[in-house]
Amino acid sequence: MLQSKHILIGVTGGIAAYKICTLIRDFKKSGAEVKIIATPNALNFVTKLTLQNLSQNEVYVEEFDVKNWKPEHISLADWADIMLIAPATANTISKIAQGIADNLLTSVACAFSKKIIMAPAMNCNMWQNETIKDNIKILQKRGIEILEPENGFLACGYMGKGRLCSSDKIFNAIEEALNYSQMLKGQKIVITAGGTIEEIDPVRYISNYSSGKMGLALAKSAYDMGADVVFITTKDFDVPFKKVMVKSAQDMQNAVNDEFDSSNYIIMAAAVADYRVKEHSEQKIKKGEQDSITLEFVKNPDILAELCNRKLFNCSETNKNEILRFAQNDVQAEESHDVKSACNDKPVIVGFCAESENLLENAKAKIAKKGCDFLVANDISRKDIGFGVNDNEVTILNKNGDILKLDKAPKNIIARKILECINMK
Ligand code: CTP
Repeated sequence: MLQSKHILIGVTGGIAAYKICTLIRDFKKSGAEVKIIATPNALNFVTKLTLQNLSQNEVYVEEFDVKNWKPEHISLADWADIMLIAPATANTISKIAQGIADNLLTSVACAFSKKIIMAPAMNCNMWQNETIKDNIKILQKRGIEILEPENGFLACGYMGKGRLCSSDKIFNAIEEALNYSQMLKGQKIVITAGGTIEEIDPVRYISNYSSGKMGLALAKSAYDMGADVVFITTKDFDVPFKKVMVKSAQDMQNAVNDEFDSSNYIIMAAAVADYRVKEHSEQKIKKGEQDSITLEFVKNPDILAELCNRKLFNCSETNKNEILRFAQNDVQAEESHDVKSACNDKPVIVGFCAESENLLENAKAKIAKKGCDFLVANDISRKDIGFGVNDNEVTILNKNGDILKLDKAPKNIIARKILECINMK
């Protein structure tokens, strides 16, 4: 599975460094090319000669030991498909999190724009240290995958969480990341997230409970799969891909429309307000004497439905009559599938639907009405999934009437499965 893949392994100065030797052999046996960067301290635990023999390549240690015109930290970063840092000490983790590049390994990590996986190993009290915890969070936010250490007997004599995770776990994570990193290569994916914010006056608004977590999980997974991601969101998350902050449904529609022509997929995971106040007040509305007030609401554009119509109108001339019939509502729901499948595939449009009752029935009606290629249906009557929580359980419908149920799982797992499903269309 790893044939001809270029794996760059950064080894830092911890006792677990010796465990990397078997991992290098496993990668080589699977057909990968391996290059090693060791910090000077790593060589106190494992010799350069061992690493060199196992990887069948030169071992890089010194930053200024430059052999050609291109600095090592750039040429190694360009060469590799993926970078593994194992064992990652508290020191190296913190330096990379803070952008410190004071040796070859940290300089390469700084210049590395592809996937990085880190497997920390340290004393259990160090792992619990608040600064280390914060730095781990910073790295995760930037898309670095952390393979958490395991519980057990530590070389320092303690029992606790700090042991390097198993070689199998590291191997599998690398294999999976390399396969995933190709899956959506060259594809542009636009993902919306969060609840829209409809202002009433400068201090008040209406919105909804959407946390944006599902949209974020989709965007991160798409990024890991190699996609060019545009994340259009009402919630501010730190992300390593293009982010467009929006507030209202109208802002969101403009931002999505700007990306339409160049996108391969548009996923509307945002909870868009169906209505906004008819007249937004420029000044704060004062309390006054009356016991009640009335706000008049007007309908927001249905972004998803309008995107689907735009896609229909991009279809070839030969389908024009059918398309016109569709636009004039002269096509029954079942027949509309045929009209739509006669059209261009790009972009694949995916809607989400949050239902508090009759999930499947409502979802079937919604996919027919909106005209999207896929609809991901969420049961919001359940408190353990959906809005605001980390897990989800969804049912995916496609325009041909196929249904796929995904069992309850963390949102990042659900996100991957959704992307796999729509990618196999
Ligand atoms: N959606 C949209 N624009 C709107 C309302 C919804 O683009 N004005 C999108 C959502 O992003 C989601 C899908 O439509 O992908 C379904 O949203 P949902 O709120 O379930 O559907 P509604 O059409 O609003 O229907 P209802 O609220 O009556 O169930």
